Order: sequence, then structure tokens, then C-alpha cells
Amino acid sequence: MGGTVKALDAIRARRSVRAYKPDAVPEDVVMDVLDAARWAPTSGNAQPWTFVRVREPEARSALIATTYGGYARTAPEQAWLHSAPELILVCVEPLRTMARYGSDGRAYARLDVAAAVQTMLIAATAHGLGSAWVGGFDADEAHAALQLAPDAEPLAIVALGWSAEDVAEPYRLPLTDVLQER
Ligand SMILES: Cc1cc2nc3c(=O)[nH]c(=O)nc-3n(C[C@H](O)[C@H](O)[C@H](O)COP(=O)(O)O)c2cc1C
Repeated sequence: MGGTVKALDAIRARRSVRAYKPDAVPEDVVMDVLDAARWAPTSGNAQPWTFVRVREPEARSALIATTYGGYARTAPEQAWLHSAPELILVCVEPLRTMARYGSDGRAYARLDVAAAVQTMLIAATAHGLGSAWVGGFDADEAHAALQLAPDAEPLAIVALGWSAEDVAEPYRLPLTDVLQER
């Protein structure tokens, strides 16, 4: 069961990394991280996602320009994203899920894709990569900037790369605060 221990280590070691070294991530590592995400569970096994690897410099800048720091959409872009050698725009393709579950399917599909994002982050950590989940961006602007398919809904930007910072352990509510029993 060595694999089980490694998974738990990766889950606990993952940190949001916001500064990256310029070194490229080997192609097979990027592909393994993306491949791992396909194994996330999905409602009705609809797999309602697309992973858009944004590599072209103009496309990267256009995507980063749709981001904003903090809580206000008017805030400046999250410029640290320029340091990440890999940017993956993770999109929801809700129609497959809605075909089965009706209008509820839109919410289900978003949950499914969130599970894929987390799986990507854990896989990245297992490879020794830093990663970050970025939700602070305008999905409509990102859709237009990258000329996505009409039904694709951008949900998250995932930054990947070799970390250039030591991230302090973030605070977590103790389990005793969040665990209830009935
Ligand atoms: C849905 C979602 C959106 C997020 N958006 C951003 C973001 O736009 N920019 C950012 O720097 N971090 C973002 N984060 C990362 C959180 O700030 C981070 O997960 C949290 O502070 C806990 O730190 P940790 O990831 O290192 O455990 C986001 C996380 C989630 C789950």
C-alpha cells in the first residue's frame, strides 16, 4: 500500500505556489498531471471538461489579463502568473451532464470539474511541482480571449511549475471544529 501513503503525503504537502522558476516542466510530467485529472469522479461519468493548455505567449498574456487579485474585479491582474511555465485553463462542458440531469446538471458539472482541478494539483505535488488554483478571473473574457468553443465555460486557471518560494503552512481549522457526529 505504498501508493496510499504517497497520496496522503501529496495531499498534505500541496501549497498554492505563486512564484515559479523559469525552467520548463518536462512534457511527460505535464501530460501525466493532465492525465491524472481524467480519473476524477464525475456525475454519470459524463467527464464534462476540457483542459486548455495555454502556451502561445500572446494567448498566455491575454488569459492573465482576465485575472484580478483579491476580491474586486477591478483589481490589477495576478501578474505572478507570468512566472508559471504552464497555464491550464480548465473548462466545464455542461451539456453532456445536462443531457442526463436537466438543469441540475450545470451545477453537477462544475463540481465534477472542481474534482478534476484538485486531482491535477495533487498529481503535480506528487511530481514535485508547485501549483495553484486560480479562480480570480473573468470567465467571459477568458472565453473570448482564447476563442473557446461556445459551450465551454472556463472554471479555473491551473498554474504549474517548479516552485521559487517556500510557502508557509497555511492555517486549517482543526478537525474537531469541522467534524460533527450524529
Ligand atoms: C476556487 C478557488 C479559487 C482560487 N482563486 C485563487 C486566485 O485567484 N488567486 C490565488 O492566488 N489563489 C487562489 N486560490 C488559492 C487559495 O487562496 C488557497 O487555496 C488558500 O489560500 C489555501 O492555501 P493552500 O492552497 O496553500 O492550501 C483559489 C482556490 C480555490 C479553491
